[in-house]
Amino acid sequence: MNTDKSGTNIGSYEERVKNFTWDAVSQELGFEDGVPRNIGWCCTDRVCEQGLREKTALIWESAQGEVHRYTFNEMRLYSNAFAKLLQELGVKDGERVAIYLDRVPSLYFSLLGILKLGAIAVPMFSAFGEEALQVRLANCDAVACITSPRLARKLRKARPGLPALKRVIVVDADDESKLKGDEMAYSVEDAPPVEVFPVFPATEETPSLLHYTSGTTGQPKGALHVHGSILSQYITTKWVMDLKPDDVYWCTADPGWVTGISYGVIGPWSLGATQLVLEVGFIPARWYSAIEKHRVSVWYSAPTAIRLLMREGEEIVKQYDLSSLRHLCSVGEPLNPEAVIWSEKVYGLPFHDTWWQTETGAIMITNYPGMEVRPGSMGKPFPGTTAAVLDDRFEPITEPNKPGKLALKPPWASMFREYWGNRTIYESKFKNGWYITGDRARIDEDGYYWFEGRDDDVINTGGHLVAPFEVESALLEHEAVAESAAIGTPDKVNMEVVKAYVALKSGFEPTKDLELSIMNFVRKRLSPLAMPQYIEFMDKLPKTRSGKIMRRVLRAMDRGEPIGDISTLEDE
Ligand code: PRX
Repeated sequence: MNTDKSGTNIGSYEERVKNFTWDAVSQELGFEDGVPRNIGWCCTDRVCEQGLREKTALIWESAQGEVHRYTFNEMRLYSNAFAKLLQELGVKDGERVAIYLDRVPSLYFSLLGILKLGAIAVPMFSAFGEEALQVRLANCDAVACITSPRLARKLRKARPGLPALKRVIVVDADDESKLKGDEMAYSVEDAPPVEVFPVFPATEETPSLLHYTSGTTGQPKGALHVHGSILSQYITTKWVMDLKPDDVYWCTADPGWVTGISYGVIGPWSLGATQLVLEVGFIPARWYSAIEKHRVSVWYSAPTAIRLLMREGEEIVKQYDLSSLRHLCSVGEPLNPEAVIWSEKVYGLPFHDTWWQTETGAIMITNYPGMEVRPGSMGKPFPGTTAAVLDDRFEPITEPNKPGKLALKPPWASMFREYWGNRTIYESKFKNGWYITGDRARIDEDGYYWFEGRDDDVINTGGHLVAPFEVESALLEHEAVAESAAIGTPDKVNMEVVKAYVALKSGFEPTKDLELSIMNFVRKRLSPLAMPQYIEFMDKLPKTRSGKIMRRVLRAMDRGEPIGDISTLEDE
């Protein structure tokens, strides 16, 4: 990996902007005629061919604290084995295969195996409840799902709504007698090694992954990505994460989320980097001890986690040797200046904010290593990316610091190619030659971008987007709920949490018990993140004449702001 005099991979940002070409990235990845553009192959076989067969690809620490290491060659063999298994089970290229697993090694091997086969991987959060799972897998007609004994129980409940799902593969099943019906146990480490698998000859336009994300209207949508996205993920990881051959890199994001794939699989492994994966979620002592034990040098996390670490204080930091850290990045929500300043004080390094979305597939705006960090700013567009802030007529605003709609000029390598089965909504995201991100931002005199907020009703809780519609639909399934609305209410740690407004059916009284029952109902059906933290009972909800619930009015009520024009409200 060539580095500049400054010691960073990116070197001079201005030079990179001036000279950027996708062809150069393609050449770095060795994409000559006849070379497969297959992400699964690039992240394993290609790295082995570069002499890194025995280099550690994955350091995995289990919930109990056991550590397993896997080399690039093992990852190559295990992903081959998954690809072969799926092929033998009749899965074809282009078919959707879901992964519904905690952060266990088989998640990574199966993901790369699905890609090697040319099938489309659909990562699901293990925290998803049966309904969240069913809505997504039914939407894409997933034909197979890879899961674990614990999660298979939830999948069984969703299965009656999933007629296309023919194969359920259960990994890490200690007791096969507990499997039900056609579920099949599989252990990649016990299976015969598969030295050669003829990978699917993907082109840059071959579909690779379907990432479900929450929008303003309707149920979550599957953002379809292609194998060519690796060009963006490779080069952004190289220049933004600044990975060098000896780094130990740790992305704390779950692969159920695009960050955990673009920067927890594709980017780092296409660069031949060693990655840490912790099976456990956020536990401050486990996180710090993992950095110390595995000598983590580059750390990619999220503002909510940083705020939680701030809350834990500085004393705990002093108990660990964190001197291996050299570069920190963050994504998912606005990174508040206090968090940047705190990290500089406590870790001796600032967090570098990165901005992007499920739809963009890779980092689009960011603070670069070696460049001044303006605390609170998202930074500057990635070389090769044209960003702008648009007015209401979708024309670029040239005046500095004037907020507008954050937009990007298509195309770029990792741009989503479709919302699965929803061309109309996909097309509605493009206006006047721009991709409209749904965020509001401003650009200062020096070209730094500042996040102003979202331009829609989507709730961002701890960096995770929640669709109000999905919560409202789940609420309506509760026996006591007649009408429902969900909004995000400000929260010190998670930025926003879900708040629900509920009108009850006659015969039900608004009691504390009912409140808890409704909260739990949503938690189980969707996920802990989608569960309303607050429920406010109302006699009826504010609606437009056409019956649409006015979340704007509820948000204003929640914040104690003027309600504004409610002349269209029914019965006013
Ligand atoms: O609103 C922005 C917020 O998260 C949205 C994208 O969420 P998602 O598709 O789940 O992808 C997250 C993985 C990158 C954005 O539209 N967001 C993301 N990063 C930032 C951010 N908001 C402010 N600052 C950021 N750095």
